[in-house]
Amino acid sequence: MANLETEFCGVKFRNPLVVSSIEPTNSVDKLKRCIDAGAGGAIVKTLTDIPDMHKLSKHSKYAILNNKGRLIRGVIPRSFSFYARSGYSSDPYEEWIPHLKEAQAHAEGSGAQIIGSVGAKSMEGWRDICRAVEDCGIKLVELNFGCPHPAMMPGVRGGSMIGQDPEMAAEVTAWVADAVDIPVIIKMTPDQSRPIEVARAVKDAGASAVTLTNRYTGFAVDIETGKPYIGGPAGVGGPWIKPLSLRWVHEIHSKLGIPIAGSNGIFDARDAIEFIMSGATLMQIGSVLMLKGIEYLSEVVDGMSTLLDEYGYPDLPSIHGLASRQAATSYQAHFEAKPVRAAIDQEKCKFPKCENCIRSCFHEALSGDNGTVVTLEENCLGCELCYSVCPHNAIEMVDKAA
Ligand SMILES: Cc1cc2nc3c(=O)[nH]c(=O)nc-3n(C[C@H](O)[C@H](O)[C@H](O)COP(=O)(O)O)c2cc1C
Repeated sequence: MANLETEFCGVKFRNPLVVSSIEPTNSVDKLKRCIDAGAGGAIVKTLTDIPDMHKLSKHSKYAILNNKGRLIRGVIPRSFSFYARSGYSSDPYEEWIPHLKEAQAHAEGSGAQIIGSVGAKSMEGWRDICRAVEDCGIKLVELNFGCPHPAMMPGVRGGSMIGQDPEMAAEVTAWVADAVDIPVIIKMTPDQSRPIEVARAVKDAGASAVTLTNRYTGFAVDIETGKPYIGGPAGVGGPWIKPLSLRWVHEIHSKLGIPIAGSNGIFDARDAIEFIMSGATLMQIGSVLMLKGIEYLSEVVDGMSTLLDEYGYPDLPSIHGLASRQAATSYQAHFEAKPVRAAIDQEKCKFPKCENCIRSCFHEALSGDNGTVVTLEENCLGCELCYSVCPHNAIEMVDKAA
């Protein structure tokens, strides 16, 4: 079996799959269950001094939507959307202190780690809660600059509001990095247009790593009632969001080289491997556990070793950033790529019963003639759309010169 041991910011994890800060990490017993189910670690539900964020968790609402945007009842498909409004930890952070110590001792006994998560309303709050986490023997702390909800609470400066502003993000990061000795991870928001700037600002301010990313803020509508689901805007995500998360993992990994914890879109082991190949070292898994149960964790962890074995990789470092390094760095590389063209296998082609390829060719390279599909080579760009829409496996892309 491939070796899954991981080091992140100098801290060792038996495997790179940690449970993100979410409902399944909102008590000491739940944290222990995550570890017992095979997680490499678990991030406590965000500790806070914002009273409305405690309150919000006690008024949590979740709507699980299908790919048509309608409520799911029963079996959850891979394409689900998790549309949810939830706050931070439901208990004041001071009450967590003995629990964090207990959870960390339990995790360390299994080669795993508990990670702190903090979201405060004032500079003093950020400092005091992070120090409390450190005093419990926790080895890493994540600052939640990604939560959509504090930004929607009048008078509260927190969550994604900080994560959208490089200066504010750097100010809080520097303050906390100065106040504690453990590595500080910044959990970023995808609800913004300047993630590279924010990541650079927090790196320069002393962050040891970034988490990419928390969830987007969305608005989902039930057309039967004419109302938004769960009463209004909420955090939204699901496995379909993964390419958007991977884009930032790849860009920030290749441009800044800062250690990355990947989050937002992991459903199974294959997704976790994609995050690693894009440049993440730790992977955070969250909402899927609320739907499939904590025990599902072991399936994902085991699946990662199985995939590594299947593709012949000995360990995680051998795939870290692999896809990121092989991404084109300029459009020139695309312009210079070897030209290919579509070649039709007339034996397999079902024209004129099927015309999918002709219908999707907007470069006038494919047409029907005398009962067969013919290719006008000079018009074929090798774009591969016909290859994707052919249901009969009758199209191959071949060297244009051939
Ligand atoms: C119901 C719910 C509650 C969450 N609570 C928190 C939180 O307290 N702190 C935090 O940093 N992220 C929170 N998140 C975000 C998750 O930790 C995670 O980053 C996000 O769900 C994306 O990962 P996923 O695709 O694996 O769910 C929450 C997400 C959901 C769905």
